[in-house]
Amino acid sequence: MMAADQTVHGVPPSLSAKVVGSFAYLTVRDRLPTILTKVIDTIHRNKNKFFEEYGEEGIEAEKQTISLLSKLRNELQTDKPILAVTDGLQDTESWNQYLQRHQRLQGDVSWFKSPWLYVECYMYRRIQEAVWLNPPISDYDVFNEGKTQSFFESQQAVMTLCTYLENVNKSLAELSKNQLLEHFNKLLQVSLWGNKCDLSISAGQDNSQKMSPIDSLNSLQPFILVDDSSMVWTSLQRPGQPGKTTAVRVDVVLDNAGFELVTDLVFADFLVSSGLVHEVHFHGKSFPWFVSDVTAKDFQWTIRQTMAANHKWMSKSGVQWQSYLKEGVWFYHDHPFWTQPHEFCDMAADAPDLYATLQGADLVLFKGDLNYRKLTSDREWDHTVSFGTALRGFGPAPLCSLRTLKANVQVGLQQGHGEKLTSQEPDWMTSGKYAVIQFYSPKSEQ
Ligand code: F6P
Ligand code: MG
Repeated sequence: MMAADQTVHGVPPSLSAKVVGSFAYLTVRDRLPTILTKVIDTIHRNKNKFFEEYGEEGIEAEKQTISLLSKLRNELQTDKPILAVTDGLQDTESWNQYLQRHQRLQGDVSWFKSPWLYVECYMYRRIQEAVWLNPPISDYDVFNEGKTQSFFESQQAVMTLCTYLENVNKSLAELSKNQLLEHFNKLLQVSLWGNKCDLSISAGQDNSQKMSPIDSLNSLQPFILVDDSSMVWTSLQRPGQPGKTTAVRVDVVLDNAGFELVTDLVFADFLVSSGLVHEVHFHGKSFPWFVSDVTAKDFQWTIRQTMAANHKWMSKSGVQWQSYLKEGVWFYHDHPFWTQPHEFCDMAADAPDLYATLQGADLVLFKGDLNYRKLTSDREWDHTVSFGTALRGFGPAPLCSLRTLKANVQVGLQQGHGEKLTSQEPDWMTSGKYAVIQFYSPKSEQ
């Protein structure tokens, strides 16, 4: 980790709420307290449920959790120092060491003065602490209602997508290489635009997919600012590597539950059924994170719901996904590193086991905006800096970011492109209207 607020060895400062009026500032000032207020409301609304399940103890836990969360909101709104985490969970020490590192570098570490990436992640860790410290509701997912609602509201789009998948899978034997590539690009783009549907950017408001995801692709194409999909495709091709018999493996670092997760599962299904890929490893979060991110429970729930759907191709897809998991074709993992505030260039040092896991992949897909912020260290890069430079040495395997832009960091653009967009649409980096498919291979550096 390096100093956050100055350019050191060509690495620019971190985005921070210190810059009054910036997107980071507005997020910390407005959006985060709104999210906390909704969490408090959700817990309060479920008071009777807690009583039915746990009696008086449930009511007491509800009261105590709300009191911790109100305190947290007050700390945030009055720019209080960031405090140590006290719940003794597996990652507590690592969070507190991270705080100490910032204190050494920066002195005062507080909500509006420290890197935005750090304080935003920290808020979700403190929500986890507030719930965890209050058994019997310690396992309660305060974001569950929004995630399940977003899944149900996207049903029509999910059915369309599963029907499309069925048609592709049925015709696989007759497809030419070019036709296969066409389907690959479509499903990659569906997974990309699935990232529009997160609930954190809208502070929990409905953001589900209502249009047909396949029909929308043409009209969305002009909004893809960087399209490295041909390199993604090439990274999965094995001919020309005589003697290479090992299975092709793709890792997907998941982002949001709801429609986005379905688009990721559909893409992974296509990769396996087409024979392009033999193993898919999904990486989710180990506790509720950034409102809509996928946890193990969300992952299993989504597959069960898909299986149980009253739609032939949807339920067939769900059954297929379940058997991929049972047969060891698909794997689900979580690792505490994904719910920490670290920039990914710290992964090799701070989570060497996870780094080694990712090294086993032929391609790692990073879904979503927060992963992009962590890939690029959430810094004020010039837009023309290359993606490889912004990764600052992170490159366990060839990797690709599939991200709709919701935070003001964007690298790898042509000279003048960023400036042109800024003059036409000042909020182009935060509106979720634009996207990138951005690829990097450590092999190209050798
Ligand atoms: O500011 C918007 C925001 O909350 C960012 O902090 C975060 O990067 C993003 O939304 C979450 O988006 P995604 O789900 O795509 O990671
Ligand atoms: Mg998310």
